[in-house]
Amino acid sequence: MIVVAHRGASAYAPENTVAALRAARERGADMAEIDIRQTADGAFVVMHDSSLRRTTDVADVFPERRSFNVADFTLAEIRRLDAGAWFGPGFAGERVPTLNESLAVLREEGLGALVELKVHRRDRGMARRLAQELSTDPHWRAAGAEGRLILQSFDWVMLREIAAAAPALHTAALGKTYGRYGLRRIAQYARLINPHHLRVSAPYVRHAHAQGLAMFGWTANNDQAIRRLIRDGVDGIITDYPDRVHRTLLAA
Ligand code: G3P
Ligand code: CA
Repeated sequence: MIVVAHRGASAYAPENTVAALRAARERGADMAEIDIRQTADGAFVVMHDSSLRRTTDVADVFPERRSFNVADFTLAEIRRLDAGAWFGPGFAGERVPTLNESLAVLREEGLGALVELKVHRRDRGMARRLAQELSTDPHWRAAGAEGRLILQSFDWVMLREIAAAAPALHTAALGKTYGRYGLRRIAQYARLINPHHLRVSAPYVRHAHAQGLAMFGWTANNDQAIRRLIRDGVDGIITDYPDRVHRTLLAA
């Protein structure tokens, strides 16, 4: 069972920050999930929401701005923001990491990476640039071919483009429940189908496996949800509490 820390171990540290990635290792995760978005100048930064408002002090730093979309800010502007204080005073000073910085931390911590591409507006070169960024470092190039680096998205158009640009990279389709025909189509460009945990069932896991697709369920945070995913036979559990998954696995 692969234990994936959702947005890092986001129950214990501010989501999608270096602190959350370090907490993921401390809490026993095998991989960390991070969300990435493109800035106005084409950099990939780690941020879940399309707006910077919930998890940074952007409204204080840029009081003159009316909207706070990641896509409208440059990397240099985003680097000025505090991404930790909202979670607790002990995390003040955490920055919004870039994709590359996060991968460097995950490598240091010995963790795999489940990178979720969030798309505000599609742009032509994005898939190719991202595929290149994920395969420049030999460590992550090898990890991409071995399934220790996985690229996932709800945007299946981008997913297909990325799979075409980097055929060795493992990709995961985020989605709902699909029949055999749907799963067979997904298996043409993805290695995994990752549904919400309430959409997982034992037959669905079996159908996915029969099409050669692995399945990670998200985001299972309580013991009941974690137990159900284990019973249904998923390959991985995405959770804000990696330590809870270990506790449940030990008790099973
Ligand atoms: O890993 C899947 C999960 O992260 C998708 O939902 O909104 O937390 O990105 P969200
Ligand atoms: Ca995510």
